[in-house]
Amino acid sequence: MNMKNQTMEHVVAIRGLENVVAGETKISYVDGVDGRLIYAGYEIRELAAHASFAETVYLLWHGELPTREQLDAFHIRLVAEMRLPSQVIEMIKLAPPSAHPMDLLRTAVSALGMYDPDAADRSDEACERKAIRLLAQTITLVADMHRVRQGLPVLSADTKLGFGANFLYMLRGDSPSEAEQTAFELLLMLHLEHGLNASTFAARVTASTLSDMHAALTSGLGTLKGPLHGGASERAIDIFENVNDIDEIDEYIEGMLNEGKRVMGFGHRVYKTEDPRARLLREQAWILCQRTDLAELAAQAKRVEQLVMEKKGIYPNVDFYSGIVQHALGIPKPYFTAIFACARTAGWLAHIREQYADNRLIRPTSHYIGPWDKVAVPIDERG
Ligand code: COA
Repeated sequence: MNMKNQTMEHVVAIRGLENVVAGETKISYVDGVDGRLIYAGYEIRELAAHASFAETVYLLWHGELPTREQLDAFHIRLVAEMRLPSQVIEMIKLAPPSAHPMDLLRTAVSALGMYDPDAADRSDEACERKAIRLLAQTITLVADMHRVRQGLPVLSADTKLGFGANFLYMLRGDSPSEAEQTAFELLLMLHLEHGLNASTFAARVTASTLSDMHAALTSGLGTLKGPLHGGASERAIDIFENVNDIDEIDEYIEGMLNEGKRVMGFGHRVYKTEDPRARLLREQAWILCQRTDLAELAAQAKRVEQLVMEKKGIYPNVDFYSGIVQHALGIPKPYFTAIFACARTAGWLAHIREQYADNRLIRPTSHYIGPWDKVAVPIDERG
């Protein structure tokens, strides 16, 4: 039997690796049939009701929710790392103002590796230090990026504020209200982790070569940027920029659907029922939208939900409400995907460490479908 026959007989390529089980994890489970998301044994709604973002990160990194003492120590370390090397601030200043925040975030996270004293150390202690630093630095990058681009001074974190509240403070320059803090912490928690999605897989592939955490995170960031993955929340909010008032919603959405276009922020590849994250974030979106200046947006969003359900039977996904919540928090639209990435950084870091702890180089194979048995002709004899 020649090589050609062996290859043809035994290989079946699974496009997109759909339904391929590519590893074991204790980090999360996505149940698309019943619409459940489980983080390390806990239903997401349990955590949403009883834990903060930092507590959930601790859970995914350590397998257990922290005690009060453990959380306090974790929080102190996290907030202390919410600052950037001056060289990275300079890099932000030098970047073209037109650069998308996701491009700048990916480049800056890669650069941070060159300033991290633990970059090449894969011991548990160094990985914990780097994970805390990276989680703190990515969100600081987004806040500082915005301040630098606005010509405003960057702000230091306030040790009295929680992780999410600190970001809003460092971005906007004022302390967020209780309702704003609750909504933003939940938004971060809901974007933290979602199984072996494309960016998490990319981060694990890089980690499986025993490359460093910054490199693996950079792979995750580059992968999340693609329009088939992150980015829907930025485009979901476009709907409300393209209509003048609620009376134009029906025509606009029906027009989109009649032209076969997709309404951003609706539908999901895995969830065959309602996205559990959308259900939780919707409550917060409507609480924030009680503000008079957001009443029209809420009314329009509710009409869009109704119409897409009536016409297509499709539920909104987390990105629909994520766009609304971020808009209500005063976060400029170009930063929406970058904020998703900052939350997911904690999930990627959990996966990178899980990969290091029980590593096997991820190296699948492909089904060769090119020609065989060709003869190489010297260059001057080729037609
Ligand atoms: N708007 C309008 N119609 C949609 C839709 C949407 N957002 N999402 C799916 N559909 C329709 C498809 O057109 C198709 O209709 P048809 O059977 O009449 O042709 C049907 O639903 C099934 O679509 P399919 O492409 O098989 O669904 P999918 O599971 O592959 O798609 C997404 C999943 C996420 C890619 C898709 O829902 C989408 O593009 N959503 C918008 C982008 C988005 O919000 N992404 C963030 C996901 S968290």
